[in-house]
Amino acid sequence: MNPSAPQPATHPHFSLLHQGLNSLLCLHPCGHCVGSPTYFLAPSMIEEHGFNMLPVPMTRSAPHQGLDLDALEMRVLEARANGALASADEAPFSGLVYCIPSYHNPTGATMPVAARERLVRMAREFNLLVLSDDVYELLHHCSPRGPQATRPPRLVSFDGEGPGHVVSNGTFSKVISPGVRCGWIEARPELISHISRSAALSSSGGSTQLMGSLIGGAIECGAADEMLEVTRATLSSRMAAITATFNARAPQGCELTVPSGGMCAWLRLPEQLDSHAVLVAARRRGVSFKPGDLFA
Ligand SMILES: Cc1ncc(COP(=O)(O)O)c(C=O)c1O
Repeated sequence: MNPSAPQPATHPHFSLLHQGLNSLLCLHPCGHCVGSPTYFLAPSMIEEHGFNMLPVPMTRSAPHQGLDLDALEMRVLEARANGALASADEAPFSGLVYCIPSYHNPTGATMPVAARERLVRMAREFNLLVLSDDVYELLHHCSPRGPQATRPPRLVSFDGEGPGHVVSNGTFSKVISPGVRCGWIEARPELISHISRSAALSSSGGSTQLMGSLIGGAIECGAADEMLEVTRATLSSRMAAITATFNARAPQGCELTVPSGGMCAWLRLPEQLDSHAVLVAARRRGVSFKPGDLFA
């Protein structure tokens, strides 16, 4: 892909095509934390792999946005005091943190640099594995100020020492088409070799070889770069349409947050409006959204 999109990593990484979150969860740490609200399927996937859920709230207060790291630290300390963190002979990590640092689904929030540094420091201190769901990372919108102006380096690029505590999960589903189910993992070499020992991936390189080779061809001939530009431009014009409609039509008390990348804009309704009733009315006009309680 066009290297102008992601910032270069600060240390050597390996890449690997994969089937996303499910492969990463095969790393088998136990006890974990997850940001809430979050991508609504992530908690079920995590629970299906036998983990206990410890929800951690998001914060919107300046200067920090994204996972509430004070709350996360408190959760981890509580878990440690209750003996809920795994010991070194049980698992390579004492717990797992799931987060979406950039253009979060559903809030659109992006964690600033200082928060990213702190999260990686915490991961090292408590021996946690951070699963950085970076599926929107390449989808910064076209902006007259230039895409680099507002984008912090990826979380994985702060994980520069030792065996590694951050795994970045990327997908072509958000760039090329929903349903391609093919992506990549980026992490320290030690972590990659750990992941690639899993039986699912050892089976002739996983289950997406055909799609992987088609995408490989699209990258080589430049078609993937073109698709990425089309996706960014489409998202940018949709966000502009949402903003314009909101400014022209939204009733008092509504609050709209439109991020500079990704697919999720976050609309707060006044107390008296029921989001499910609004959804029914919106669908009659050919518009749909996911009500916030789905992500709780
Ligand atoms: C944060 C996040 N991770 C993962 C996915 C799943 O992506 P895929 O379409 O590759 O299954 C989504 C889809 O909406 C998402 O928002």
